[in-house]
Amino acid sequence: MRTFVGITYKRMSVHKEIKRITTHTLQEFKQDGIKISMLTAYDYSMAKIIDSAGIDVILVGDSASNVMAGHETTLPITLDQMIYHASSVVRAVERALVVVDLPFGYYQGNSKLALESAIRVMKEAGAHAVKLEGGSEICESIERILTAGIPVMGHLGLTPQSIYKFGTYTVRAQEDTEAKKLIEDAALLEKTGCFALVLEKIPATLATKVAKKLHIPVIGIGAGGGVDGQVLVSHDMLGINKQFKPRFLRRYLNLYDEIENAVKQYIDDIKSRNFPTNEEQY
Ligand code: KIV
Repeated sequence: MRTFVGITYKRMSVHKEIKRITTHTLQEFKQDGIKISMLTAYDYSMAKIIDSAGIDVILVGDSASNVMAGHETTLPITLDQMIYHASSVVRAVERALVVVDLPFGYYQGNSKLALESAIRVMKEAGAHAVKLEGGSEICESIERILTAGIPVMGHLGLTPQSIYKFGTYTVRAQEDTEAKKLIEDAALLEKTGCFALVLEKIPATLATKVAKKLHIPVIGIGAGGGVDGQVLVSHDMLGINKQFKPRFLRRYLNLYDEIENAVKQYIDDIKSRNFPTNEEQY
């Protein structure tokens, strides 16, 4: 066990020296048993911090629809808006692999549109890969995107773009039929050519089973520790959102309160004529 830990640390220090993470690096991480770290970002300043901290993958998620634009679901965000967010992120990033969500309505049921959308994301935003939600029903779209040499990340389990089909954001694939379909879809996505797969909010035992079965990296959010990596929405893990408290979320900061206190202090300083001081003016 000790030796194993030693080897892992050695590999980890090597991996920090990697200049640019690619889809191949992620594959090597899986083979070497190095866990993959992934976070969302939607703007230049946040992406700069997250990248310089050494994150492996930055996801420009369509969760931007919720956390940046205040929509209830991810459905309203447009391709133009995703490209705006993604291009801001790409300008900041030096090391991480930047994956961009294709938004709702720009790939489902139309593989030609899917290819056009993916090409726009790569060309106009400078992204490195795209992510699509769904299994067998979107395989034709994935196949067509892959013909253009664009890497595709899959996404199964809780797929927020289908929220009106599910009706709730509760844990998916708890029943045998849905679990069986998820296992089949995961195998199909790998066979089709996806370079990685996100599993969202499914039982840990099922996620572990999928990660063991697949050769491509499986990255979980609310899918337990038996997968090849973890992803969280940055605004959630930094505590910028106060209300969202799912069991899988670990909060590393309480930025909502910190920012609010700083703003209150700033207001007080202005009102009490404590800001600016002589040193803070010309
Ligand atoms: O849009 C997003 O942030 C995502 C993650 C939750 C995986 O798809």
